[in-house]
Amino acid sequence: MSHIQIPAGLTELLQGYTVEVLRQQPPDLVEFAVDYFTRLREARAEAACPPAAPAAPAAGLHEPGPAPAADGDGDGDSEEEAELEIPIPSRYNRRVSVCAEAYNPDEEEEDTDPREQLSEVLDAMFERIVKVEEHVIDQGDDGDNFYVIERGTYDILVTKDNQTRSVGQYNNRGSFGELALMYNTPRAATIVATSEGSLWGLDRVTFRRIIVKNNAKKRKMFESFIESVPLLKSLEVSERMKIVDVIGEKIYKDGERIITQGEKADSFYIVESGEVRILIKSKTKTNKEGANQEVEIARCRKGQYFGELALVTNKPRAASAYAVGDVKCLVMDVQAFERLLGPCMDIMKRNISHYEEQLVKMFGSSLDLIDPGQ
Ligand code: CMP
Ligand code: CMP
Repeated sequence: MSHIQIPAGLTELLQGYTVEVLRQQPPDLVEFAVDYFTRLREARAEAACPPAAPAAPAAGLHEPGPAPAADGDGDGDSEEEAELEIPIPSRYNRRVSVCAEAYNPDEEEEDTDPREQLSEVLDAMFERIVKVEEHVIDQGDDGDNFYVIERGTYDILVTKDNQTRSVGQYNNRGSFGELALMYNTPRAATIVATSEGSLWGLDRVTFRRIIVKNNAKKRKMFESFIESVPLLKSLEVSERMKIVDVIGEKIYKDGERIITQGEKADSFYIVESGEVRILIKSKTKTNKEGANQEVEIARCRKGQYFGELALVTNKPRAASAYAVGDVKCLVMDVQAFERLLGPCMDIMKRNISHYEEQLVKMFGSSLDLIDPGQ
């Protein structure tokens, strides 16, 4: 009997998809697969025939104000590439540099046997049960593993100038421990379990082989769009690339609710395609059943963002967001939002300061609206 032939590239393709699923935990695997592979095809076509300069995003609510600070564009990319280093073959080796990106997928050797590679990944994933107060990661250590949360709650602690403070929590979902592995830097935070929990770990070598390579694909997929987002224009090229590394993509059908007024917030959104309506509940307008009616207060289009207010103010969602037609959004979790969008905070705060006036202009007084904090 002849052996079954696994086509070249199949294992890698499925691994890339699997790892993205683990990282982003999309609600619909099929939708996610359709979109993931469509994007991959588009990226491949673009690589074969590079597109003209990206179209200017639609003007609207979230356009940043006056000219942003110098964006460090130009050939910053090649500056970054110049710092590339050879992937570290063993986790016992010391890191050799702290540059922003430490991996060049084009320099990766071709894998000889995809079956070997697949079994290596499966063997490499391991379950780790953690107890309350256990330190999963300690700031300053070398990175050994990347973790996907199966269950449990975890505190994120950052020590700076001898002061340790909690900068966030993970609640039964998400992943962490990628930074030290992606950028060859010491662990940037301490992760402590605040409940009993369970994690899926992936060792450094496998992570770098699969995820960092996958990130390189993601860069090809999202780079030009991210560069066209007005909010992110003031960031350095390397900072924008870090955003590409952490973002996920979600797809919504016409009328689907993306954000619910009054709920706790854990994500930030940028519209990649389609349109999003922002609605807020009115105290005085009620429907037949006597429930408070929602009134439209804004629309977000390609390149615009929403869902920042609750993350900035640490309050519940101030309004609801719905898809108009089919919508694709780039989504960033609150931890990445806080870590990476600090430089854009002034622009966001400036726009937030207009929300109240905008409501007063539309309704005469915002007192007619339900305070989501109530
Ligand atoms: P790493 O530096 O490898 O280990 C600590 C992890 O904490 C880090 O990767 C991130 O995944 C996660 N993390 C979450 N929030 C932060 C933050 N504000 N600063 C640094 N790391 C963070
Ligand atoms: P957030 O409160 O997190 O979720 C609802 C989002 O609607 C909010 O963030 C803003 O991004 C967006 N939004 C747009 N216009 C307004 C407005 N006038 N008031 C409050 N939120 C608004």
